[in-house]
Amino acid sequence: MKSSWTSWKWTIAVGGIAASSALWSRAESKWTLPPETAQLKAGPGVELASASCLLCHSADYLSMQPPLDRTGWQGVVTKMREKYGAPLPANQAGAIIDYLAAQYGKKAP
Ligand code: HEC
Repeated sequence: MKSSWTSWKWTIAVGGIAASSALWSRAESKWTLPPETAQLKAGPGVELASASCLLCHSADYLSMQPPLDRTGWQGVVTKMREKYGAPLPANQAGAIIDYLAAQYGKKAP
């Protein structure tokens, strides 16, 4: 009597491990990376922004930023140009700021 109860416990324990590892591998195969880590959001000006802004850091720097309004993005772009030396002609800054404000901006209230 005692020995059959012991083997039951073993069956449950082994079965539990097998079941949880099956669950684990199923969950694992579903993992995908968040889509925005590698690329900037699509939108007008994305080529320009990718070419100018991804030279030194990844798109994460933009997507992890709290949403900024146009003035906020203007400040970032100015800082990237003046402080860090982003090779960005002044006449293209406006287009990039428009892109950033549209795709990574604060939604109008
Ligand atoms: C010449 C290199 C360079 C280029 C080009 C560049 N950045 Fe940066 N960026 C940096 C550096 C350096 C930091 C600071 C990194 C740190 O503090 O870890 C930074 C940080 C940031 C941050 C984080 C917040 C902050 O103010 O530190 C944002 C947002 C950002 N960049 C946006 C942009 C955008 C938008 C562009 C395109 C207009 C751009 N960057 C182009 C060098 C660059």
